[in-house]
Amino acid sequence: MSNLAQWFSLEGKVALVTGSARGLGWAMAQALAEAGAHIIINDINESALEKSARDLSARGLQVSTARFDVTNEKEVNDVLADVTVRTGSVDILINSAGVQNRKYFIDYDLDEIRKLMEIHYFGSANVTRAVIPGMQAKKDGRLIFVSSLSLKSMRVPMAPYAAAKGALTALMNALAMELGPWGITSNAIAPGFFITEMSRKLVEDKEFKSYIDSRIALKRWGDPKDLQAAVVFLAGPGASYYTGQVIEMNGGILTTV
Ligand SMILES: NC(=O)c1ccc[n+]([C@@H]2O[C@H](COP(=O)([O-])OP(=O)(O)OC[C@H]3O[C@@H](n4cnc5c(N)ncnc54)[C@H](O)[C@@H]3O)[C@@H](O)[C@H]2O)c1
Repeated sequence: MSNLAQWFSLEGKVALVTGSARGLGWAMAQALAEAGAHIIINDINESALEKSARDLSARGLQVSTARFDVTNEKEVNDVLADVTVRTGSVDILINSAGVQNRKYFIDYDLDEIRKLMEIHYFGSANVTRAVIPGMQAKKDGRLIFVSSLSLKSMRVPMAPYAAAKGALTALMNALAMELGPWGITSNAIAPGFFITEMSRKLVEDKEFKSYIDSRIALKRWGDPKDLQAAVVFLAGPGASYYTGQVIEMNGGILTTV
């Protein structure tokens, strides 16, 4: 294998992507599978999960499914114990599962704020804790957190979401230091405006969509496929000295005034 191929090859690796039945998680899962990983796809949406698994299998890619809610500690540990008996322990984790709602801060009740923190922060912390021992045993591993442009710039009101992404991103950074001695890297991808089910209402608002188009240097919203190369890089051997970083993927939205 050439050096170039080796840097990006995930042959022999096991990759878990949470919330990967659709959207950005699904795009990232396909990329990791195409790079040679055995992919474990996860979601709470069982029918979408099975459909995505059939799609990968039909393409001759290695796939297992793990249906769990990222916020449920027992479910995550039980399901992962069961799946990894067959696949081997997880080498690459992408924490992508998430939800979003948009309204003024004052209109949230505290339980809604807690729910966003629960999924984005506690959910990521929970799944990450479940895979760390296996990575430490192998003295290798890749943790990838899905952060957000909302840490730096906002257009729609979603303060509790931004705060939850902030917590997750701080966790990513701290784990880079803590897990570095085992050769485990910890990084984040911060997408800007991508077209998925999560952003559907914004995309359907023609005025909002074209305003955002006009603000992006590349003059278009992101396609989930735009994340694929970055995630293969972060997950692969070529990124072994890359940790505690955020890859911002937003078409250059912060370059315009
Ligand atoms: N779409 C964007 O523009 C954008 C921008 C920045 C960040 N993000 C982040 O990217 C990630 C993926 O977003 P998306 O746009 O693909 O959204 P999406 O709604 O299309 O997909 C999210 C998936 O996560 C699953 N999920 C939700 N809660 C879960 C739970 N508790 N356990 C397991 N699975 C769960 C859903 O069923 C769904 O399949 C999210 O963390 C989101 O905050 C998205």
